[in-house]
Amino acid sequence: MSYISNDKPVTLHELMRMHAAKEKIATLTAYDASFASLLDRCGVDIVLIGDSLGNVVQGHSTTLPVTMEQMVYHTECVSRGAKRSFVAADMPWGSYQESPAQALRNASRLMAAGAQMVKLEGGAVMVDTVRFLSERGVPVWAHIGLTPQSVHALGGYRIQGKDADAAQRLKDDALSLQQAGAAMLLIELIPAQLGEELTAMLRIPTIGIGAGVSCSGQVLVIYDMLGIFPGKTPRFVRNFLSGADSIEAAVKTYVAEVKAGKFPAAEHIY
Ligand code: KIV
Repeated sequence: MSYISNDKPVTLHELMRMHAAKEKIATLTAYDASFASLLDRCGVDIVLIGDSLGNVVQGHSTTLPVTMEQMVYHTECVSRGAKRSFVAADMPWGSYQESPAQALRNASRLMAAGAQMVKLEGGAVMVDTVRFLSERGVPVWAHIGLTPQSVHALGGYRIQGKDADAAQRLKDDALSLQQAGAAMLLIELIPAQLGEELTAMLRIPTIGIGAGVSCSGQVLVIYDMLGIFPGKTPRFVRNFLSGADSIEAAVKTYVAEVKAGKFPAAEHIY
């Protein structure tokens, strides 16, 4: 079964239609044109130029060293390869936290490089910035839960929202971000039950990574889901290449399993 119904590009409007129709949104990261084109052919809805490129492409232990210049370069590469998939790009550390005006300046560079949406990390503290960007025509994907750019403040890559207070803070953050105009929410590394509650209470789609199967869609880092990244494999990752006969087959299985609500399975959730 193919999920590529036609060659029509996936737009923000189409993502909202999918969300309203309860069709799961399959997302993967890519950092170059060849992978972007492969994901596009395999029916991936959103291709994210994640600042995870700092880890998987550059070999850093955090995403913090990634620069705007690098994100612009990789966004240009990916947008040349992705003809149908929606293209979203991460705003790197230090490119948006200073002021809404700084965020707009840098988001504009990513949009000019081919991004159709920008992703930024943070909850309530980012509300003014999300509003400023959204009101000026920049679709914003807000990222809460484990926010890797705050790894040092969080004391490591730990599950977030585990106790009632922390869960409530994430719910408050999610509602304020939605209210400020965020088009989508990425929720990372939280209990599956909280992922379900966040998804149920929001109008906008939630894309989860380690946040349970109830999210409106899923995302993984492409190098993780192909088993290429040499580091420790987190619980929420499945190696889709193992048992598949090509990268294309692995990506198609990922898309099919996300769409069918089969990934993540019980062994991938918290
Ligand atoms: O940078 C990244 O790849 C991300 C992941 C959560 C998908 O933001």
